[in-house]
Amino acid sequence: MNDRHWLSALFSPTGGTAAIAKAITGGAGQVVDLSVPAPDTPVPASAVMLAAVPVFGGRIPAVALDRLAALHGSGPAAAVVVYGNRAYEDALLELCDALTGAGFQVIAAAAFVAQHSIVPAIAAGRPDESDLEAAARFGQAVLDKLAQPVPPTLVTPPGNLPYKDWKGVPFHPAAGESCIACGLCASRCPVGAIPPGQPGHTDPERCITCMRCVSLCPRKARAIPAPAFQATAAMLSEKAAAPRQPEWFL
Ligand SMILES: Cc1cc2nc3c(=O)[nH]c(=O)nc-3n(C[C@H](O)[C@H](O)[C@H](O)COP(=O)(O)O)c2cc1C
Repeated sequence: MNDRHWLSALFSPTGGTAAIAKAITGGAGQVVDLSVPAPDTPVPASAVMLAAVPVFGGRIPAVALDRLAALHGSGPAAAVVVYGNRAYEDALLELCDALTGAGFQVIAAAAFVAQHSIVPAIAAGRPDESDLEAAARFGQAVLDKLAQPVPPTLVTPPGNLPYKDWKGVPFHPAAGESCIACGLCASRCPVGAIPPGQPGHTDPERCITCMRCVSLCPRKARAIPAPAFQATAAMLSEKAAAPRQPEWFL
């Protein structure tokens, strides 16, 4: 018998991370959306904290890490990173370290694959049925580990210190002529990089190129400038060609 409940903290600009997190928890429990600033949230020790974030440049998006710091507790946590089939490098270690720093006991960690949010042809269709089944198995394995009569062991995922240096990509989405200035992108941008009155503009100082505005635009009016997109697609078609599979540490 296991009466643990999930509390998920998610940063998922284009939905891949959220799909994996939902499969892990079976849609159960409270969800804290880190695409907006999170209020101070003490997590009860009876909960299992699930932190799920995408991999950006082998790291965790800094804004997700900052907002995650609002959640703190001393109970068990599972760290999950979702990446676009290239590599997750130091992201899982960074997430585990952040959770440990916030007081949690990191008893499980995993890396799953989702469609690449910059070049959707990479890992297209992921997470697929098999990824989602694996995510559900991982979620059950976390609960089973907590149901054991012995204290759960802590995990150490792969990754290096210092973490990989990554300062973001040097390109940002821009609006094309089909933009009707509906303002949806501005209202949903996680970092307020699109001024509400000027949806054609993107503030390059704020934009983290998370691709939410591109993926949600109802007119498909926003895109990465073509030369940068083509260069990224060419790099990924070499480095992210072979399908990678879920990995977990329990
Ligand atoms: C700025 C940026 C950097 C990325 N860096 C990596 C990376 O280093 N390795 C990788 O495999 N995928 C990378 N991706 C792909 C995302 O990790 C992947 O598409 C993820 O599923 C996006 O999560 P979301 O759908 O929840 O937004 C990157 C995507 C973006 C937007």
